[in-house]
Amino acid sequence: MPVDSAAYRNAISRFLTGVTIVTTVADEKPSGLTATAIASVTLEPPTLLACLNRHSTTCQAIVQAGRFTVNVLASDQTDIAKLFASREMDKFQQLAVLGHGIETGSFGTPHLRGALASIDCAVSATTDIGTHRIFFGEVQQVQCAEGSPLGYFRGAFVDRPGV
Ligand SMILES: Cc1cc2nc3c(=O)[nH]c(=O)nc-3n(C[C@H](O)[C@H](O)[C@H](O)COP(=O)(O)O)c2cc1C
Repeated sequence: MPVDSAAYRNAISRFLTGVTIVTTVADEKPSGLTATAIASVTLEPPTLLACLNRHSTTCQAIVQAGRFTVNVLASDQTDIAKLFASREMDKFQQLAVLGHGIETGSFGTPHLRGALASIDCAVSATTDIGTHRIFFGEVQQVQCAEGSPLGYFRGAFVDRPGV
């Protein structure tokens, strides 16, 4: 018998993760959500996975677009993580109100200015587990910057992981 979801959540919340914003664009409309369920899968071919709730707007947009970008947040971007975890109708407009910028690169998906990395992926496979869809993304382009990461541990953002 599996453990109940509360017990599992309590245990897995002790696994420190980074924080990302997964973005895409479908029908010329950008969408994005805060995601910690991201993992590197293999270097050959360069592939990561993103695990998204099938009911999220962003999941449905990625199905349509066949591409997405994983933006790895920096320690001073907690406000962006909170915004993209909300059901705010126009997160990208709100981003400008908060004083943050986005860029659209040659891949077409939104890149968050100030992120530690923006990793552009083409969907190479998917699989559904319970409420979620796992997108395997073959990495097409990367953009990197220096800085310290934002973390997530036991239900809270941590801007100095390990300290
Ligand atoms: C720290 C944190 C991590 C999250 N990680 C994920 C995740 O990995 N996958 C997911 O589908 N939702 C995740 N969420 C929830 C989504 O960000 C949230 O449901 C969002 O409102 C969905 O937006 P959308 O419907 O506009 O796409 C996370 C939320 C928080 C606060």
